[in-house]
Amino acid sequence: MIMEEIKVKDLTYSDLDAVAAIHIVAFPKSFITKLGDEIARAYYQWQLDSPDEVYAIGAFKENKLLGFCFGGVFTMALGGFLSSNKLLVLKSVLSHPWILLNPYFFKKSLRGFELLMRFFKKDKIAHRNQEVSEDDPFGILAIATHPENHGMGIGKVLMNESEKYAVKHDFKKMLLSVSPLNLNAVQFYDRIGWDKVYDGKIWKGVMEKEILTE
Ligand SMILES: CC(C)(COP(=O)(O)OP(=O)(O)OC[C@H]1O[C@@H](n2cnc3c(N)ncnc32)[C@H](O)[C@@H]1OP(=O)(O)O)[C@@H](O)C(=O)NCCC(=O)NCCS
Repeated sequence: MIMEEIKVKDLTYSDLDAVAAIHIVAFPKSFITKLGDEIARAYYQWQLDSPDEVYAIGAFKENKLLGFCFGGVFTMALGGFLSSNKLLVLKSVLSHPWILLNPYFFKKSLRGFELLMRFFKKDKIAHRNQEVSEDDPFGILAIATHPENHGMGIGKVLMNESEKYAVKHDFKKMLLSVSPLNLNAVQFYDRIGWDKVYDGKIWKGVMEKEILTE
């Protein structure tokens, strides 16, 4: 693929079906995927609507979405979604009741978000256009490219654009949480300059990237 054909644009509601479709193929084991495309769409719509500061971008080729990245200052990504969409989540769980058979399912799915949240101020709810504190890291909540397009440089383009946004908005650091078992993603982040953040001697999946400004 020729990278010049790729355009990065802000995501809007009209992209949410395509975002959900990529989520489902890129994260086949995730909590949201197991609950179906309606939940996946609602989850990303919640991010677009959220009072948190969200920078949501997609990589497009001829108006087809090939990958997306949601970054920003997140205080209530999954918790806020669950509390705002209780009925929809309940309906999805009831139509996928086998999901409840695994007692570790929710715990495992929430762990990544909990790790990330620990690094954010508990009382911080940043709003669009609101000045952020210089200590707030810019979080990467989700990045995915369609499996057909892995390894073509699209993930890197999305991360570079997110970093440009973080620089422009005076963030000093970027932060994310990845499952340590997701070796592809860990190698990707490592390759594009992210460092592991250790909790003592243990690495639980948090990674950071310092933003170097002149
Ligand atoms: C992780 C992911 C977003 C990477 O996107 P991508 O478009 O395939 O990555 P790119 O092609 O832009 O790769 C950028 C660099 O990382 C390297 N890289 C990507 N995947 C890699 C892997 N599995 N192992 C080693 N290096 C890898 C590329 O070789 C490239 O290096 P280069 O700049 O030296 O050429 C994509 O694989 C994906 O969507 N995975 C499933 C969803 C996921 O796990 N998201 C992360 C959740 S935390």
